[in-house]
Amino acid sequence: MSATHRENFGSSFTFIMAMAGSAIGLGNIWRFPYMVGEHGGGAFIIAYIICGVLIAIPCFVCEALIGRRARQGVVGAFRKIAPGSGWRWIGGMCVLTSFVIVCFYSVVGGWSLDFLLRSLAGKLAGGNPEAATGVFSGMASSPVESVAMMAAFMVITALIVLGGVKKGIEKFTKLTMPMLFVLMILIMVFSCLLPGAGEGVKYLVKPDFSKLDGAGWAAALGQAFFSMSLGMGTVLIYSSFMKKEDSILGSGLWTAGSDTMFALISGFAIMPAVFSAGIEPTAGPPLVYETLPYIFAEMGVDAPVLGYAITLAFFLAILTAALTSSISMFEVCVEHAVEQYRFKRWQAVLAFLAPGLALGVLCALSFGPLKDVKLFDKTIFDLFDYASSNILMTLGALVFVLFVGWRMKKADVRDEITNGGTLRLGTSVFNVLYFLIRWIIPPAIIVIFVSNLLG
Ligand code: PFF
Repeated sequence: MSATHRENFGSSFTFIMAMAGSAIGLGNIWRFPYMVGEHGGGAFIIAYIICGVLIAIPCFVCEALIGRRARQGVVGAFRKIAPGSGWRWIGGMCVLTSFVIVCFYSVVGGWSLDFLLRSLAGKLAGGNPEAATGVFSGMASSPVESVAMMAAFMVITALIVLGGVKKGIEKFTKLTMPMLFVLMILIMVFSCLLPGAGEGVKYLVKPDFSKLDGAGWAAALGQAFFSMSLGMGTVLIYSSFMKKEDSILGSGLWTAGSDTMFALISGFAIMPAVFSAGIEPTAGPPLVYETLPYIFAEMGVDAPVLGYAITLAFFLAILTAALTSSISMFEVCVEHAVEQYRFKRWQAVLAFLAPGLALGVLCALSFGPLKDVKLFDKTIFDLFDYASSNILMTLGALVFVLFVGWRMKKADVRDEITNGGTLRLGTSVFNVLYFLIRWIIPPAIIVIFVSNLLG
């Protein structure tokens, strides 16, 4: 769909499915559990839900209403609603954010690809559970393997964006997404029944607020933005195809609801197994990939064939979920170069792929030869991860909210949220939302952002 021929999503269901395709990805399955582990378990989950309801959902509404109002891409939208103003520069920031995420996201996507190949070869299910937690470190510390897998993931993403076979992939995810959901529930039940899993469940449901500091709140907010794909133009672009009759708030609630449910299930699938396997919950980015081989090895002990099938289906599903997310980010970059700078599509793809691969190599090696190279006490991978969600996406979301609250006309905002008054959304709901958008969310984001930088 190009910006000039703006079709509509056929129904709000299709819009929600497309949004969920972008939102549900490695952020839920890989990032959420490790954030929970690093920031105090249950207390982080509560902070995450508070940030989600009070900040992320209204931010979704803001970004979506700009997109639907303007029916344009990021730069075009600001040019149309606020002609001649400096707001259009936010487009460049969205591209930067997407690009930074693609670089480190491809490393984790590469791990999924690696694990898919291992499970195909029958090397995951049925192995020795005690030894299984070491599978990840073996892979990550091998420079050739981790770089090759990262590169393969990024090139596949670029080829899909270039070849326009996005539709095919999206059809495929309609199959794999429900499959992933069912598998996650299965794994969650299995994981909770492992010996010693009770400690993990306790860790999730008994909040220890003493561990939740400013950095924890910033991480919770950043995770909510990352997981819902906010603050970098994806929601804006998708919403520019949304029908006038669809409810923006309703779509936001559905996206947030399904996304959060996925994250919670992942948390309850991973954390009990972490405790059962004796892995440190604060292990950081490798946490989930250290834990999964243990779960699958345990599964394969009593039921080798079933264990094999589940492992294979699981990594296939994760890989496609990761691809639909990475495609949506790569698309933001490519569209921008095509629309604003008249690049040909293949030129735009190459222009981002080449530096992306170079930076991706540095991120991939952060778990091996470059693990001791640190800046601000973070590895290169951690720096990319942190800078995108805790800084760039947070600032992006703040700019969108400020634009809606202080630059757009209130009547236009009301018109979009209530669909010209046709939605049976009480005036009080709109008033509360508008009050949050103007007076509560911007200072809340700033306080969390600054306290994190100072802390
Ligand atoms: N929300 C995706 C995930 O949870 O994996 C990551 C992501 C996709 C972030 C698209 C931003 C984006 F535009």
